Amino acid sequence: MIAAGLLLFSLFSSLALGQPTAHDVFHVHEKRSDVPNGFKYVGKAAPNATLDLRIALVQSDPAGLEAALYDVSTPGNKNYRKHLTKAQADAFIAPKPESVQAVTTWLAKNNVTAQTSATGEWMKIRIPVSQANALLDTQFNEYSHDETGLTVLRTMSYSVPASVKGHLDFIYPATAFVAPRPVPAELQIMQSRETSTHGISKRARGNRKSRTTLNAIPAMTTSKPAQATGPVSPDDSCKTKITPACLQAIYNIPPDSALNTSSNIFVASFVGESADPADLKKFLGEFRPDVSQGTTFRVKAVDGGTNNASKATIEASLDVQYTVGVAAGVDTTFVSVGSNNTDGIAGFLDVINDLISQEEPPFVLTTSFGFNEKDVPVGLANNLCNAYAKLGARGTTIIFGSGDGGVAGIQNQNCTTFVPTFPSSCPFVTSVGGTNSFGPEVAVSFSAGGFSNVFARPKYQDDVVPAYLKTLGSTNKGLFNASGRGFPDIAAQAKSFQVVRGGQTISVSGTSAAGPTVAGVVALLNDAVFQDGGQPLGFLNPLLYSSAASALNDITQSNNPGCGTDGFPTSEGWDPVTGLGTPDFAKLLDVVKKSS
Ligand SMILES: *[C@@H]1O[C@H](CO)[C@@H](O)[C@H](O)[C@H]1NC(C)=O
Ligand SMILES: *[C@@H]1O[C@H](CO)[C@@H](O)[C@H](O)[C@H]1NC(C)=O
Ligand SMILES: *[C@@H]1O[C@H](CO)[C@@H](O)[C@H](O)[C@H]1NC(C)=O
Ligand SMILES: *[C@@H]1O[C@H](CO)[C@@H](O)[C@H](O)[C@H]1NC(C)=O
Ligand SMILES: *[C@@H]1O[C@H](CO)[C@@H](O)[C@H](O)[C@H]1NC(C)=O
Ligand SMILES: *[C@@H]1O[C@H](CO)[C@@H](O)[C@H](O)[C@H]1NC(C)=O
Ligand SMILES: *[C@@H]1O[C@H](CO)[C@@H](O)[C@H](O)[C@H]1NC(C)=O
Repeated sequence: MIAAGLLLFSLFSSLALGQPTAHDVFHVHEKRSDVPNGFKYVGKAAPNATLDLRIALVQSDPAGLEAALYDVSTPGNKNYRKHLTKAQADAFIAPKPESVQAVTTWLAKNNVTAQTSATGEWMKIRIPVSQANALLDTQFNEYSHDETGLTVLRTMSYSVPASVKGHLDFIYPATAFVAPRPVPAELQIMQSRETSTHGISKRARGNRKSRTTLNAIPAMTTSKPAQATGPVSPDDSCKTKITPACLQAIYNIPPDSALNTSSNIFVASFVGESADPADLKKFLGEFRPDVSQGTTFRVKAVDGGTNNASKATIEASLDVQYTVGVAAGVDTTFVSVGSNNTDGIAGFLDVINDLISQEEPPFVLTTSFGFNEKDVPVGLANNLCNAYAKLGARGTTIIFGSGDGGVAGIQNQNCTTFVPTFPSSCPFVTSVGGTNSFGPEVAVSFSAGGFSNVFARPKYQDDVVPAYLKTLGSTNKGLFNASGRGFPDIAAQAKSFQVVRGGQTISVSGTSAAGPTVAGVVALLNDAVFQDGGQPLGFLNPLLYSSAASALNDITQSNNPGCGTDGFPTSEGWDPVTGLGTPDFAKLLDVVKKSS
């Protein structure tokens, strides 16, 4: 906005006249060239409309945080699983005092008061549009979002004074056009035939005996505690209907419950998704009769989120039933993140910052929502990814479903180049793709996977990704970024999960199902480790890509089409459809015990 010549002139005149001072010179900080697809310009924002803005300060040492994360997450290191304390992790991210000083001074000069986050890296301000326009030398406008009809206040460009350059990372949401709501993986829902009529609970109960085939392995579901029997082969019904018993059989998971050693799972949920404890009870009665029917889940609210049991939704029911159903005996907390309806990703920031602020963050966090990476501003993507690094360094395993659009991203869409998804593209999370069937288990076509355009390939992928690219040859050349972080990291079953919602059993598909499954596996591994007095697994990827790789079932069939192509083929070893493969609990437990 301000040409170099003008800048020099201002500097000169400020010296000559004593004021305005040099730091009143504005520099464009972020700008965009067009309004993204899906949004339309409505008009100038009303001057008296209220704007909630977040100011991200430059973090003092993200590289140090990354080094510390790998230090505690890489097997063989002296500090492996010696996770950081809150204070240690905070220190890397907290801004330098001079940054706080610079931004605070600038705001104070403009009569703006800010709310500062506990560690100081975020400042929140609430001001009228007129004041924001002056503060940032810009014009905020109103834009409508086609899909939801919601309007947002954004600008195409904003400026900040020289005095905060190098101290202020970005302001959000200013030029960021993230869909107002996060997208759950596109759940493919089929009503189960047996349960699609009214009077269902009676029928289901009456049918319990004849339905044991659904429970796949009657021997496993009726015996308790675990008998030290060898691997059980999955029932044929698991090819069309997945239950916890199927997952136990396919992934070698012992049916005995966790010993409740303090192992836990947090499930993050958005957009008013709710789960009903009564549905969980019915689900357990039907699919895990060996587990205490009183088992329930905790609810935690962030941003005023609520869990309305009488409005149970599919995603939340799936998430809760398969975390509890796989990892019975592990404490499950459903985190309901409230929606302020103008901004889909703020809730992602709020939930992660809430968990980071706790002295004892969860051991496993799973999320079945995400975005197409291109819709997330780079500054924000980096900020969130660093927050995941921070939580990982504290000992949390962070799991995201990879998305359900194959190479087209979160959901199937028309595209000319492949669409990576976020947060899966962040190298500090574990991304889970989808499979189905067994003997052999194959990739599901909707399993999102590919390569980031924002995050470079992490070291832990330095062997497997080049090997994959070599076998890929010129296939898909120009459609993806070969230097980016490849995802997913692992995979799990993702088709036809039997879920109870509003008392009825439905069949649900999506990587939304794979994520909670892997979360359950990790929580059971943690439980076993805790029984031996060990430390939680934390950030998994360095372990997965080294000693644990041989404890995974390599998936070598099928591919993930999208954007008018066949997508990527699976292959031996890692591939951008199913990652390194699916878990074998017994083998993983062995590796985990040896590497602790
Ligand atoms: C803003 O001003 C307009 C016209 O002056 C008024 O009708 C409206 O209620 C005001 N809105 C707010 C949020 O104060
Ligand atoms: C801040 O408030 C003071 C006192 O009310 C006023 O003199 C000054 O002009 C204001 N500054 C700005 C930038 O609004
Ligand atoms: C959203 O609303 C909740 C509850 O009113 C509030 O606590 C939270 O700070 C809001 N978030 C933002 C980004 O304004
Ligand atoms: C919960 O959902 C029901 C059914 O939609 C609704 O009637 C009720 O008002 C909701 N309760 C709360 C606290 O939102
Ligand atoms: C685990 O133990 C705690 C403390 O005794 C208890 O509150 C919690 O309900 C238990 N969780 C499960 C899943 O059994
Ligand atoms: C892609 O575009 C075609 C033609 O405009 C349309 O028919 C089709 O539904 C679109 N597909 C998706 C997944 O949006
Ligand atoms: C490819 O990915 C790298 C990160 O590995 C990034 O720096 C670069 O900008 C990306 N290229 C394109 C065209 O997106």
